[in-house]
Amino acid sequence: MALRRAAAAAAAAAAAIMVWAAALAGLCSAADPYVFIDWNVAYMNAAPLGVELRVIAINGKFPGPIVNVTTNWNVVVNVLNSLDEPLLITWDGVQQRKNSWQDGVLGTNCPIPVGWNWTYEFQVKDQIGSFFYFPSLSLQRAGGGYGGITINNREIIPLPFDTPHGDITLFIGDWFNKNHTDLKKELDDGKTLGVPDGVLMNGKGPYRYNNTLVPAGIDYESINVQPGKTYRFRVHNVGMFTCLNFRIQSHNLLLVETEGSYTMQQNYTNLDIFVGQSYSFLVTMDQNASSDYYIVASARSVNGSTWDRVIGVAILHYSNSKGKAAGPLPDPPNDVYDKTYSMNQARSIRWNVTASGARPNPQGSFRYGSINVTQLYVLQNKPPVLIDGKHRATLNDISYSPPDTPLRLADQFDKKGVYELDFPTRPQKGPPRIASSAINGTYRGFMEIVFQNNDTRVQSYHLDGYAFFVVGMDYGEWSDNSRGTYNKWDGVARSTIQVYPGAWTAVLVSLDNVGTWNLRSEDIDSWYLGQETYIIVVNPESTNKTELPVPDNALYCGILKDKQKQQTPHAQGLNSASIASAAGRMVLAAMLFLSAMPVFL
Ligand SMILES: *[C@@H]1O[C@H](CO)[C@@H](O)[C@H](O)[C@H]1NC(C)=O
Ligand SMILES: *[C@@H]1O[C@H](CO)[C@@H](O)[C@H](O)[C@H]1NC(C)=O
Ligand SMILES: *[C@@H]1O[C@H](CO)[C@@H](O)[C@H](O)[C@H]1NC(C)=O
Ligand SMILES: *[C@@H]1O[C@H](CO)[C@@H](O)[C@H](O)[C@H]1NC(C)=O
Ligand SMILES: *[C@@H]1O[C@H](CO)[C@@H](O)[C@H](O)[C@H]1NC(C)=O
Ligand SMILES: *[C@@H]1O[C@H](CO)[C@@H](O)[C@H](O)[C@H]1NC(C)=O
Ligand SMILES: *[C@@H]1O[C@H](CO)[C@@H](O)[C@H](O)[C@H]1NC(C)=O
Ligand SMILES: *[C@@H]1O[C@H](CO)[C@@H](O)[C@H](O)[C@H]1NC(C)=O
Ligand SMILES: *[C@@H]1O[C@H](CO)[C@@H](O)[C@H](O)[C@H]1NC(C)=O
Ligand SMILES: *[C@@H]1O[C@H](CO)[C@@H](O)[C@H](O)[C@H]1NC(C)=O
Ligand SMILES: *[C@@H]1O[C@H](CO)[C@@H](O)[C@H](O)[C@H]1NC(C)=O
Ligand SMILES: *[C@@H]1O[C@H](CO)[C@@H](O)[C@H](O)[C@H]1NC(C)=O
Repeated sequence: MALRRAAAAAAAAAAAIMVWAAALAGLCSAADPYVFIDWNVAYMNAAPLGVELRVIAINGKFPGPIVNVTTNWNVVVNVLNSLDEPLLITWDGVQQRKNSWQDGVLGTNCPIPVGWNWTYEFQVKDQIGSFFYFPSLSLQRAGGGYGGITINNREIIPLPFDTPHGDITLFIGDWFNKNHTDLKKELDDGKTLGVPDGVLMNGKGPYRYNNTLVPAGIDYESINVQPGKTYRFRVHNVGMFTCLNFRIQSHNLLLVETEGSYTMQQNYTNLDIFVGQSYSFLVTMDQNASSDYYIVASARSVNGSTWDRVIGVAILHYSNSKGKAAGPLPDPPNDVYDKTYSMNQARSIRWNVTASGARPNPQGSFRYGSINVTQLYVLQNKPPVLIDGKHRATLNDISYSPPDTPLRLADQFDKKGVYELDFPTRPQKGPPRIASSAINGTYRGFMEIVFQNNDTRVQSYHLDGYAFFVVGMDYGEWSDNSRGTYNKWDGVARSTIQVYPGAWTAVLVSLDNVGTWNLRSEDIDSWYLGQETYIIVVNPESTNKTELPVPDNALYCGILKDKQKQQTPHAQGLNSASIASAAGRMVLAAMLFLSAMPVFL
């Protein structure tokens, strides 16, 4: 075991990211394959919109590398924190079955101190699909640090479509010409973040489709394709709070998957992608390549010229293309005054219940519509309010404040008083308050969560540890009668959902995964200002079978900090900007790897 680990870690460092499949793991056991990944998370200078700032890179890459694995593989990621502030990486949409220890949020993990490394180890059990990871603390995602997680079908499980010719990942997201610490300061000072400076695609600025709106010298993303072939585009909105309308000029987007569920396959000319959401489209290169084509992600449901530059533009380049893309961008939906288009589009996304593929919720996936609801939470968000002189965002008038000790660790060591299990089930009457308040989820219960958006901006909500069934959304106030409109048959199972302003969205979730699970606004400002809580799911039976034990390398902090063994900070952790020294370390690692190789060959 130790040898395999050491050699694997060295090799992973040598290649920056290396996939070790069955061959190595097979030496130890016949269990599911292991992937070993070594990451150095450090600042890097970049100027995606022409203004230089420090972004968060992984192994010198922004966006970070794609974790490309298959159902049931074990993923071991050794994360070195070379930033100048604490770090946690969360794996959005990866369900961490029985294992909230690896979830990488403040309720489950102590932050990785500056200069330290910490190794995540988890299994992508019973999952397929497109997800992404990102740094979860404060506003770090606004500085980058994100990348893709692709979970492939096992070979014996057929895809519900022909194998695409290629796999293309696109990260789209709003962007400011300010670094994440300056943005955090604005929120701390009670300001709003305002209108973003643009939209990045794969960490790059827009193609110069308009000389007034886009300055010269901006690096843009270009996707090379072959005529006649079909590609799978995995598109993730990794931005802060802007919903983006995604479209490819003259090409249909055949929607096939979202956040781990194969959907009914339908063509769209454009699709609204809300913050934190992931979609797979099949795109066939069926045009005549008279020129390159625009790939566009533009701010949605906004008007006024200050938003004109909040557009990401990349290029789709056929190998036989006869020239550059020119002329106007393909039009967005013309519906600023029509609230129904986007919602109807969202309702049209449905689950293909006959498609095979790993299914995370064995209980829930079987006719969720006929399971009785055991707990109902109606969670209302409001525009930010002043509490004790601070601008805060609330759910049911609670603005969550993360305690210094992770909730899960406090429970493990029987420390009372760290948090309360008293999150209100309905909007309250009474003044808003700051609290560490969580939800008591009934193990094996079936929870209905209704998000009611009383703000004027659309919001995205995300639940860790689960996929939930999206059963309904509508304008107005939710009431018991709203249940009559629910989709009880093929609502899609996913982990991030939008809630339109003045509207509600209802989801159902089968609480079969023991652990402490973050329920949050995926909009980074609302989240930072307190729109989150945790659903704590405890198996009342005393057994070790439904949750993994606390990992040996767990970090301790807060009232448990005395349990922590100190780590000597890594040199490169202290010298954050230095990619050169990381390269030096990799050479050393490569040498180690070469000397270790013969053992295995
Ligand atoms: C962000 O910029 C400010 C100056 O505007 C600087 O003080 C701060 O260190 C920067 N933060 C990062 C992460 O680069
Ligand atoms: C991801 O892994 C799959 C299966 O192992 C492989 O077929 C595919 O080429 C890989 N994709 C990338 C982009 O590396
Ligand atoms: C830090 O990395 C080293 C190897 O690079 C590893 O042996 C050690 O377990 C890691 N520490 C933690 C806490 O994961
Ligand atoms: C649903 O999945 C089945 C099985 O893979 C597939 O044959 C069918 O085309 C899919 N239906 C739609 C509408 O996507
Ligand atoms: C470029 O954008 C500006 C501002 O929106 C607009 O007035 C102008 O017509 C555009 N130019 C072209 C060539 O489309
Ligand atoms: C989607 O559009 C493509 C053309 O781009 C067409 O070939 C295909 O049949 C359409 N599929 C569906 C399910 O409508
Ligand atoms: C290619 O398609 C465009 C748009 O459909 C059309 O205007 C153009 O005439 C076509 N060019 C050729 C060479 O077929
Ligand atoms: C669009 O602008 C009008 C007039 O400035 C304003 O009343 C309306 O609220 C705006 N709509 C959106 C969606 O921002
Ligand atoms: C759900 O509840 C109804 C009435 O309360 C009951 O008749 C039914 O058996 C329950 N269904 C299940 C699956 O437990
Ligand atoms: C949480 O709910 C369970 C039932 O699911 C109950 O037994 C337990 O007492 C509750 N805990 C608290 C602190 O309310
Ligand atoms: C917010 O709630 C109040 C009181 O119920 C209601 O009058 C108002 O229309 C709501 N606003 C939105 C945007 O939902
Ligand atoms: C669970 O595991 C712990 C440590 O391995 C052990 O002390 C305890 O007795 C086990 N509990 C049960 C119910 O098996």
